[in-house]
Amino acid sequence: MEPQTNTREPIIQEPQIHEPEHSEVREPEPAEPEATRRDAGVTESSRANRGWWDRNADDYQTEHGTFLGDDRFVWGPEGLDEVEAELLGPPEDLKGKDILEIGAGAAQCSRWLAAQGARPVALDLSHRQLQHALRIGGGVPLVEADAGALPFADGSFDLACSAYGALPFVADPVRVLKEVHRVLRPGGRFVFSVTHPIRWAFPDEPGPEGLSVSSSYFDRTPYVEQDEEGHAVYVEHHRTIGDRVRDVVAGGFRLLDLVEPQWPAWNTQEWGGWSPLRGNLIPGTAIFVCVRD
Ligand SMILES: C[S@@+](CC[C@H](N)C(=O)[O-])C[C@H]1O[C@@H](n2cnc3c(N)ncnc32)[C@H](O)[C@@H]1O
Repeated sequence: MEPQTNTREPIIQEPQIHEPEHSEVREPEPAEPEATRRDAGVTESSRANRGWWDRNADDYQTEHGTFLGDDRFVWGPEGLDEVEAELLGPPEDLKGKDILEIGAGAAQCSRWLAAQGARPVALDLSHRQLQHALRIGGGVPLVEADAGALPFADGSFDLACSAYGALPFVADPVRVLKEVHRVLRPGGRFVFSVTHPIRWAFPDEPGPEGLSVSSSYFDRTPYVEQDEEGHAVYVEHHRTIGDRVRDVVAGGFRLLDLVEPQWPAWNTQEWGGWSPLRGNLIPGTAIFVCVRD
C-alpha cells in the first residue's frame, strides 16, 4: 500500500528570497529572545518550533548543508553514517520499502534512502525546511505536518527514521511514538537520534567551558527562548535516558539497541556545542533502535 499523504496543499513553490529595495522601509530588528527555563506545552512548543525553523532554515542549511551532504544519511554531528551503521538494516534490504522520515529538514536522509531503492516520504513541521528539500530536488514526496499527528493511514510504512527531527522538540514524545507505531506495519523499525541526555547537565559550549556540570541532569524543565511578550520562539525538551526508554515502551515499541556514537578522528568540525574536544569525553548523540512487534 502506498502511504496516504492527505495533508494540506503540496509544496510546489521554489524558495523565493526577497531582498528589500533601498527605498523600502525596513522593519526594526526584533529584540534578542530571552533564554529561560519554564514549562511549555504541546501547542506552544509546536508553534514556537515551526516559527524558529522557518526563520532559521536558510542559515541552518548554509551552515550544515555541506556536512550533511545532499544525499547522505548522517545520524548526528559525530558524522555516523547509515552506510556504516546499518541501523535500519542492510542497505540491500531497504529496496522497495516504504519509509517515513520524521523531522526530515531538507530530506538529505530520504534522498539516500531513495538511492537504495526505497520509497521514502519526508515529513517536517517547517515549510521553509521543505522548500530547501525542493531546492535540492530528487523527487522525494514531501509532507508538511507535525510529528504528533501523522497524516497517514495505519500500517502505511515498513520503517521510520528521524535524525534529530521532532523528538528533541516535542512536549509529548509518547504521543509521537504512538503515532509512529500506528503508521508502521508489524515488524517495522523506528530508529531515531536525539541529543544525548547527559548533555543537558553541561553548558552548550564546544570548548572547555562545556566540560563542567552546570545544571541538574534530573531537571526536566524545558529550555525556552521567548520574545518580549513572553511568547516562546524556540523550545527544547529534556528527557533522561530512563525517561526515553520508558517513552519508547509506552509508545508500544521494543528497544533493540541504544547507540552512543564515539567521536571519530576524521571529524574535526564543530557543530554548535558538539566538538571533537567534548565528543572524545562525553557522548553527544543517543540513537534509539526500536521495533514494532
Ligand atoms: C535538527 S533538524 C534535523 C533535520 C535533519 N534530520 C537534519 O539532520 O538536518 C530538526 C528538524 O525537526 C523539525 N521538527 C521540529 N519539531 C517538529 C515536529 N513537531 N514535527 C515535525 N518536524 C519537527 C524541524 O522543522 C527541523 O527541520
